[in-house]
Amino acid sequence: MPKHIAVAGKGGTGKTTLCALIIKHLKEQGKTPILAVDADANANLNEALGMEVEGTIASILDQTKAYGGVPQGMSKDMFIEYKLNAVLSESEDVDLLVMGGPEGPGCYCYPNDLLKRYMERLSGNYPYLVMDNEAGMEHLSRRVAQDVDILFVVSDATARGVRSAARIHQLVKGLKTKVGEIYLVISRASGETVEALAGEIEKTGLELVGTIPLDEGVMEFDLVGRPLVELPDDSPAVRAVGDIMARANV
Ligand SMILES: Nc1ncnc2c1ncn2[C@@H]1O[C@H](COP(=O)(O)OP(=O)(O)O)[C@@H](O)[C@H]1O
Ligand SMILES: [Mg+2]
Repeated sequence: MPKHIAVAGKGGTGKTTLCALIIKHLKEQGKTPILAVDADANANLNEALGMEVEGTIASILDQTKAYGGVPQGMSKDMFIEYKLNAVLSESEDVDLLVMGGPEGPGCYCYPNDLLKRYMERLSGNYPYLVMDNEAGMEHLSRRVAQDVDILFVVSDATARGVRSAARIHQLVKGLKTKVGEIYLVISRASGETVEALAGEIEKTGLELVGTIPLDEGVMEFDLVGRPLVELPDDSPAVRAVGDIMARANV
C-alpha cells in the first residue's frame, strides 16, 4: 500500500530536517523509490537531500501564463504536463518535486485539477511519498496532494510552539484531505523539556510519537551545507527518527 507521509509545522521547527531523515530511513530500509514533495514556499528540502532542482511547479505555471500560448499542435494541458515532467528531479532512490511560489494570489488556480491529476498519476509510481509542508498546508488544503496516511506535526520545545502545533491540528480537522494518523514530534528536545511541556502537549489532543534531540551533527552539516541524508547512522537525530518511524509503524 502506498504510504503518504506529510510533515507540517511552523517555520524553523525542524520540518525539513525531519523530512530528510525520514527519507534517509526509508532508503536504508529499502523502501524505495520515494517521491519527495517540497510544498514549503521557502523550499530547501533539495539541499537536505543533496539534490539539484531544475525548476518548480509554480515557475512552470507562471511561464505558461506569461507565454500566453503553447506550442502549436499541443493543448495547454499537454504542454503543462510535459513541463511538469521536466521539473521532476531524479536520483537513484528519490525523486523530488518542488511546488515553489506562489508569487501572487491565485497562482495555482487554473491548473488545480490538472495538478491534482498529475500528482495522482505520478505518486502512483512510488510506494512512499514524503511531503514537506508549510504551516498553512496550502497544498493539502487544495487537495492537490493525495490523501495522507501519516502527518507529523513538528514543534520546537516551547509552549508557544506546542500551541502552534495545536492550531495546525485544528486546521487539519477542517481539511477535505483525508489524514490517517496525526502525531506530534518535538524537535531539539531534551527529556526535561518534554516533562515541562506535558500540560501543553496534552491540550493539543495530539499523540507525542517521539522527540528529536538537539544534534550537533545536524548543526554542523547545515553550517557547511552538507546534505543531512549523509549524517552517520548513529547520530542522535537519525536514531530518534528511526524510533519515531517504528512507533508510527512505517
Ligand atoms: N535536531 C536538531 N538538532 C540541531 N539543529 C536542528 C535540529 N533540527 C533542526 N535543526 C536546525 O534548525 C534549523 C531549522 O530546521 P529546519 O529543518 O530547516 O526547519 P523548517 O524546515 O521547519 O523551517 C536549521 O538550521 C537546522 O539546522
Ligand atoms: Mg523547511
